[in-house]
Amino acid sequence: MQNNTFSTLFIGQSFLQLPGVDSTNNYLKLLISKSEPLADGTVIMADHQFAGRGQQGNSWFSKPGLNLTFSIYLRPNFLNASNQFSLNIAVSIGIRNALAQYISKGISIKWPNDIYFNDKKIGGVLIENTLVGNVIKSTIIGIGINVNQQGFDGDLLIRASSLAEILQQDVDLMELLNNICHAIEVEYLKLRAGAADDHLSNYLKNLYRFGKSSIYKQKELLFEGTITNVTQAGQLVMLSDGEELRFNVKEVEFFNNN
Ligand code: BTN
Repeated sequence: MQNNTFSTLFIGQSFLQLPGVDSTNNYLKLLISKSEPLADGTVIMADHQFAGRGQQGNSWFSKPGLNLTFSIYLRPNFLNASNQFSLNIAVSIGIRNALAQYISKGISIKWPNDIYFNDKKIGGVLIENTLVGNVIKSTIIGIGINVNQQGFDGDLLIRASSLAEILQQDVDLMELLNNICHAIEVEYLKLRAGAADDHLSNYLKNLYRFGKSSIYKQKELLFEGTITNVTQAGQLVMLSDGEELRFNVKEVEFFNNN
Protein backbone atom coordinates (compact mmCIF):
# COMPACT_ATOMS: atom_id res chain seq x y z
CA MET A 1 0.00 0.00 0.00
CA GLN A 2 1.11 3.59 -0.65
CA ASN A 3 1.29 6.79 1.35
CA ASN A 4 -1.55 9.09 0.49
CA THR A 5 -3.02 12.49 1.12
CA PHE A 6 -6.68 11.60 1.64
CA SER A 7 -8.50 14.01 3.96
CA THR A 8 -10.54 11.14 5.40
CA LEU A 9 -10.69 9.18 8.64
CA PHE A 10 -10.35 5.75 7.08
CA ILE A 11 -11.58 5.49 3.48
CA GLY A 12 -8.41 5.67 1.37
CA GLN A 13 -5.99 5.71 4.29
CA SER A 14 -4.85 2.40 2.88
CA PHE A 15 -4.43 3.07 -0.85
CA LEU A 16 -3.00 1.37 -3.89
CA GLN A 17 -2.76 2.87 -7.38
CA LEU A 18 -2.25 0.24 -10.08
CA PRO A 19 -1.01 1.09 -13.59
CA GLY A 20 -3.26 -1.58 -15.10
CA VAL A 21 -5.66 -4.29 -13.95
CA ASP A 22 -8.63 -6.20 -15.37
CA SER A 23 -11.04 -4.83 -12.74
CA THR A 24 -10.39 -3.10 -9.42
CA ASN A 25 -13.32 -5.05 -7.93
CA ASN A 26 -11.68 -8.34 -9.01
CA TYR A 27 -8.31 -7.19 -7.65
CA LEU A 28 -9.83 -6.37 -4.24
CA LYS A 29 -11.62 -9.69 -4.17
CA LEU A 30 -8.33 -11.48 -4.74
CA LEU A 31 -6.59 -9.36 -2.10
CA ILE A 32 -9.29 -10.21 0.44
CA SER A 33 -8.99 -13.92 -0.24
CA LYS A 34 -5.21 -13.80 0.11
CA SER A 35 -4.52 -11.32 2.85
CA GLU A 36 -7.34 -10.87 5.31
CA PRO A 37 -7.63 -8.81 7.38
CA LEU A 38 -7.47 -5.96 4.92
CA ALA A 39 -7.82 -2.46 6.42
CA ASP A 40 -11.41 -1.21 6.51
CA GLY A 41 -11.64 1.55 3.89
CA THR A 42 -8.86 0.24 1.60
CA VAL A 43 -9.05 1.90 -1.84
CA ILE A 44 -7.66 0.35 -5.04
CA MET A 45 -7.47 2.60 -8.07
CA ALA A 46 -6.41 1.74 -11.61
CA ASP A 47 -5.02 4.06 -14.28
CA HIS A 48 -6.08 1.52 -16.88
CA GLN A 49 -8.88 -0.93 -16.21
CA PHE A 50 -9.08 -3.19 -19.23
CA ALA A 51 -11.99 -5.48 -18.30
CA GLY A 52 -14.18 -3.26 -16.11
CA ARG A 53 -17.44 -4.78 -14.99
CA GLY A 54 -20.77 -2.97 -14.77
CA GLN A 55 -24.16 -3.87 -13.34
CA GLN A 56 -26.18 -6.75 -14.76
CA GLY A 57 -23.17 -8.37 -16.41
CA ASN A 58 -22.40 -5.30 -18.56
CA SER A 59 -18.88 -4.06 -19.27
CA TRP A 60 -17.51 -0.73 -18.07
CA PHE A 61 -15.33 1.04 -20.64
CA SER A 62 -12.92 3.75 -19.60
CA LYS A 63 -10.06 5.29 -21.62
CA PRO A 64 -6.71 4.79 -19.83
CA GLY A 65 -5.47 7.64 -17.62
CA LEU A 66 -8.46 9.90 -18.15
CA ASN A 67 -11.11 8.71 -15.73
CA LEU A 68 -11.60 7.36 -12.22
CA THR A 69 -11.94 3.60 -11.82
CA PHE A 70 -11.58 2.50 -8.22
CA SER A 71 -12.98 0.21 -5.53
CA ILE A 72 -13.49 0.68 -1.81
CA TYR A 73 -13.40 -2.17 0.69
CA LEU A 74 -15.67 -1.75 3.74
CA ARG A 75 -16.97 -3.93 6.54
CA PRO A 76 -20.51 -2.69 7.19
CA ASN A 77 -21.35 -5.42 9.69
CA PHE A 78 -23.85 -3.05 11.32
CA LEU A 79 -26.14 -3.66 8.32
CA ASN A 80 -28.54 -6.56 7.91
CA ALA A 81 -28.78 -8.23 4.55
CA SER A 82 -32.34 -6.91 4.26
CA ASN A 83 -30.94 -3.35 4.47
CA GLN A 84 -28.33 -3.80 1.75
CA PHE A 85 -29.86 -1.14 -0.42
CA SER A 86 -29.22 1.55 2.20
CA LEU A 87 -25.53 1.17 1.35
CA ASN A 88 -26.25 1.85 -2.33
CA ILE A 89 -28.18 4.93 -1.28
CA ALA A 90 -25.41 6.26 1.02
CA VAL A 91 -22.74 5.73 -1.67
CA SER A 92 -24.84 7.37 -4.41
CA ILE A 93 -25.56 10.40 -2.24
CA GLY A 94 -21.87 10.71 -1.38
CA ILE A 95 -20.85 10.66 -5.06
CA ARG A 96 -23.59 13.11 -5.97
CA ASN A 97 -22.51 15.50 -3.22
CA ALA A 98 -18.87 15.33 -4.29
CA LEU A 99 -19.73 16.00 -7.94
CA ALA A 100 -22.07 18.84 -6.98
CA GLN A 101 -18.95 20.66 -5.72
CA TYR A 102 -17.83 20.80 -9.37
CA ILE A 103 -21.16 21.06 -11.18
CA SER A 104 -23.75 23.08 -9.33
CA LYS A 105 -26.86 21.96 -11.26
CA GLY A 106 -28.03 18.88 -13.11
CA ILE A 107 -26.36 16.01 -11.20
CA SER A 108 -28.80 13.28 -10.22
CA ILE A 109 -28.92 9.62 -9.24
CA LYS A 110 -30.63 7.32 -11.66
CA TRP A 111 -32.16 4.31 -9.89
CA PRO A 112 -30.60 2.23 -8.61
CA ASN A 113 -27.23 3.99 -8.55
CA ASP A 114 -26.11 5.52 -11.81
CA ILE A 115 -24.80 9.05 -11.69
CA TYR A 116 -26.31 11.34 -14.28
CA PHE A 117 -25.82 14.84 -15.62
CA ASN A 118 -29.13 15.86 -17.18
CA ASP A 119 -29.95 12.88 -19.45
CA LYS A 120 -26.39 11.50 -19.71
CA LYS A 121 -24.56 8.99 -17.59
CA ILE A 122 -21.30 10.20 -16.07
CA GLY A 123 -20.75 7.49 -13.47
CA GLY A 124 -21.72 4.05 -12.27
CA VAL A 125 -21.45 1.95 -9.14
CA LEU A 126 -21.09 -1.81 -8.76
CA ILE A 127 -21.51 -2.97 -5.16
CA GLU A 128 -20.63 -6.59 -4.34
CA ASN A 129 -21.53 -7.69 -0.82
CA THR A 130 -20.35 -10.75 1.06
CA LEU A 131 -23.04 -11.95 3.46
CA VAL A 132 -22.48 -14.13 6.48
CA GLY A 133 -25.82 -15.26 7.79
CA ASN A 134 -27.98 -12.17 7.90
CA VAL A 135 -25.12 -9.69 8.12
CA ILE A 136 -23.00 -7.90 5.49
CA LYS A 137 -19.53 -9.08 6.40
CA SER A 138 -17.77 -7.01 3.77
CA THR A 139 -18.46 -5.08 0.62
CA ILE A 140 -16.57 -4.01 -2.47
CA ILE A 141 -17.86 -0.72 -3.82
CA GLY A 142 -16.65 -0.28 -7.40
CA ILE A 143 -16.97 3.21 -8.81
CA GLY A 144 -16.38 4.48 -12.32
CA ILE A 145 -16.59 8.22 -13.08
CA ASN A 146 -16.08 9.72 -16.53
CA VAL A 147 -13.76 12.60 -15.78
CA ASN A 148 -11.41 13.85 -18.52
CA GLN A 149 -12.51 11.66 -21.41
CA GLN A 150 -13.86 13.71 -24.34
CA GLY A 151 -15.98 11.68 -26.72
CA PHE A 152 -17.50 8.23 -26.26
CA ASP A 153 -17.72 5.34 -28.67
CA GLY A 154 -20.67 3.43 -30.09
CA ASP A 155 -23.77 3.33 -27.95
CA LEU A 156 -22.19 5.56 -25.33
CA LEU A 157 -21.79 8.43 -27.79
CA ILE A 158 -25.24 9.83 -27.04
CA ARG A 159 -25.77 8.28 -23.60
CA ALA A 160 -22.56 9.22 -21.76
CA SER A 161 -20.72 12.38 -20.81
CA SER A 162 -17.85 13.41 -18.55
CA LEU A 163 -16.96 16.18 -16.13
CA ALA A 164 -14.54 17.67 -18.67
CA GLU A 165 -17.20 17.74 -21.39
CA ILE A 166 -19.58 19.48 -19.02
CA LEU A 167 -17.09 21.92 -17.47
CA GLN A 168 -15.01 22.42 -20.63
CA GLN A 169 -11.86 21.92 -18.57
CA ASP A 170 -9.92 19.03 -17.11
CA VAL A 171 -10.33 17.97 -13.50
CA ASP A 172 -7.53 16.77 -11.19
CA LEU A 173 -8.17 13.03 -10.77
CA MET A 174 -6.56 12.59 -7.34
CA GLU A 175 -8.34 15.61 -5.93
CA LEU A 176 -11.67 14.29 -7.22
CA LEU A 177 -10.91 10.82 -5.82
CA ASN A 178 -10.21 12.37 -2.42
CA ASN A 179 -13.42 14.43 -2.55
CA ILE A 180 -15.54 11.41 -3.49
CA CYS A 181 -14.00 9.20 -0.79
CA HIS A 182 -14.50 11.94 1.77
CA ALA A 183 -18.14 12.49 0.77
CA ILE A 184 -18.86 8.73 0.82
CA GLU A 185 -17.25 8.44 4.24
CA VAL A 186 -19.49 11.23 5.59
CA GLU A 187 -22.61 9.40 4.35
CA TYR A 188 -21.35 5.99 5.48
CA LEU A 189 -20.78 7.29 9.00
CA LYS A 190 -24.27 8.80 9.00
CA LEU A 191 -25.65 5.42 7.92
CA ARG A 192 -23.75 3.72 10.75
CA ALA A 193 -25.28 6.26 13.14
CA GLY A 194 -28.77 5.29 11.92
CA ALA A 195 -29.63 7.88 9.24
CA ALA A 196 -31.28 5.51 6.73
CA ASP A 197 -34.57 7.46 6.67
CA ASP A 198 -32.86 10.81 6.03
CA HIS A 199 -30.80 9.13 3.35
CA LEU A 200 -33.88 7.82 1.58
CA SER A 201 -35.50 11.26 1.44
CA ASN A 202 -32.23 12.80 0.22
CA TYR A 203 -31.96 10.02 -2.39
CA LEU A 204 -35.50 10.67 -3.63
CA LYS A 205 -34.85 14.42 -3.76
CA ASN A 206 -31.93 13.76 -6.10
CA LEU A 207 -33.49 10.90 -8.06
CA TYR A 208 -33.53 11.18 -11.86
CA ARG A 209 -37.11 11.57 -13.14
CA PHE A 210 -38.62 11.46 -9.65
CA GLY A 211 -42.21 12.75 -9.74
CA LYS A 212 -42.06 13.38 -13.51
CA SER A 213 -44.28 11.57 -15.93
CA SER A 214 -41.93 9.67 -18.29
CA ILE A 215 -41.78 6.69 -20.61
CA TYR A 216 -40.48 3.30 -19.42
CA LYS A 217 -40.02 -0.04 -21.08
CA GLN A 218 -40.94 -3.45 -19.69
CA LYS A 219 -40.00 -6.31 -21.96
CA GLU A 220 -41.02 -4.84 -25.35
CA LEU A 221 -43.82 -2.72 -23.95
CA LEU A 222 -43.58 1.07 -23.57
CA PHE A 223 -45.69 2.68 -20.87
CA GLU A 224 -46.07 6.00 -19.08
CA GLY A 225 -45.28 6.15 -15.39
CA THR A 226 -44.23 8.49 -12.58
CA ILE A 227 -41.66 7.43 -9.97
CA THR A 228 -43.15 7.97 -6.51
CA ASN A 229 -40.82 6.05 -4.18
CA VAL A 230 -38.03 3.53 -3.70
CA THR A 231 -38.57 0.85 -1.05
CA GLN A 232 -36.10 -0.12 1.66
CA ALA A 233 -35.36 -3.24 -0.38
CA GLY A 234 -34.52 -1.04 -3.38
CA GLN A 235 -37.61 -1.62 -5.49
CA LEU A 236 -38.67 1.23 -7.76
CA VAL A 237 -42.25 2.33 -7.08
CA MET A 238 -44.19 3.92 -9.92
CA LEU A 239 -47.68 5.20 -10.52
CA SER A 240 -48.97 4.22 -13.94
CA ASP A 241 -52.51 4.61 -15.16
CA GLY A 242 -53.77 4.90 -11.56
CA GLU A 243 -52.02 1.72 -10.51
CA GLU A 244 -48.98 1.36 -8.21
CA LEU A 245 -46.25 -0.76 -9.81
CA ARG A 246 -43.07 -2.09 -8.18
CA PHE A 247 -39.96 -3.15 -10.04
CA ASN A 248 -36.76 -4.93 -9.19
CA VAL A 249 -33.55 -4.06 -11.04
CA LYS A 250 -33.64 -5.59 -14.57
CA GLU A 251 -37.45 -5.57 -14.64
CA VAL A 252 -37.83 -2.07 -16.10
CA GLU A 253 -35.85 0.20 -18.41
CA PHE A 254 -35.80 3.96 -18.62
CA PHE A 255 -36.77 4.86 -22.16
CA ASN A 256 -34.81 7.67 -23.79
CA ASN A 257 -35.87 9.36 -27.00
CA ASN A 258 -32.31 10.50 -27.79
C1 BTN B 1 -22.49 0.36 -13.95
O1 BTN B 1 -22.89 1.50 -14.16
O2 BTN B 1 -22.92 -0.59 -14.60
C2 BTN B 1 -21.48 0.13 -12.87
C3 BTN B 1 -20.10 0.46 -13.35
C4 BTN B 1 -19.04 0.24 -12.28
C5 BTN B 1 -17.65 0.42 -12.84
C6 BTN B 1 -16.61 0.39 -11.77
S1 BTN B 1 -15.03 0.92 -12.37
C7 BTN B 1 -14.25 0.36 -10.93
C8 BTN B 1 -14.92 -0.92 -10.51
N1 BTN B 1 -14.31 -2.07 -11.14
C9 BTN B 1 -15.11 -2.68 -12.00
O3 BTN B 1 -14.82 -3.67 -12.69
N2 BTN B 1 -16.30 -2.06 -12.02
C10 BTN B 1 -16.35 -0.96 -11.10
